[in-house]
Amino acid sequence: MNRDFEFRQLLRAYRKGIISEATFEREMAALEGGPGEGAANGGGFCAMGKMYPSERAAIVSYIDRVRAGESMGAEAFNQWLRVCKTECIRSGLRMIAEREAYHVRVMEARLRDLGVAPSATAGEETAKFVQFVGNPDIPDNKKLLKLTTSYDPEELWKPVRDFVEQIKEDLESRELIRLYVEDETSSGNWLRLACQALNPGVQETAAPSKMN
Ligand SMILES: [Fe+2]
Repeated sequence: MNRDFEFRQLLRAYRKGIISEATFEREMAALEGGPGEGAANGGGFCAMGKMYPSERAAIVSYIDRVRAGESMGAEAFNQWLRVCKTECIRSGLRMIAEREAYHVRVMEARLRDLGVAPSATAGEETAKFVQFVGNPDIPDNKKLLKLTTSYDPEELWKPVRDFVEQIKEDLESRELIRLYVEDETSSGNWLRLACQALNPGVQETAAPSKMN
């Protein structure tokens, strides 16, 4: 944890131009060689509470897993769009469906660059999610309510943002994941706004519940 903090401080200093690239690289190398969980000392790479043999393994696993989920996400939002009865949310649903689909394409391309064939498949929860939002008998406001109260965005994205800051070697994948999180945050923000508009006075009192 302390080392992660030091990494972040270092990165911040470099981004702000306080230290040069050479100093940044030297300090990073020193940190990576220090005690803790870095790959350099053979201890593997810890990301989102799980230990991987290397930074690359953590990245490949994450991108592959997200790619599978996003593919189902695209399917879900396209199905919702087909049965959506609320005109004012249609363009948002279409936009999110497109985002999900392009995430799949970009992630597949990155896996290909890394010499990895996509292999992860989406879990049962995701299949249930597709069925739920594609169901023509469930009103749009109820779908929005269920969707936006099923997770806490801060809790969901914090480990991924921490992961992004931990990535030191594969900067191409790092920036891909960083932008992916921004897209998902934007989609989530819009879904919450739409939820509030279609459920006036309801969302504030809704208890968080898991999607199932
Ligand atoms: Fe998504």
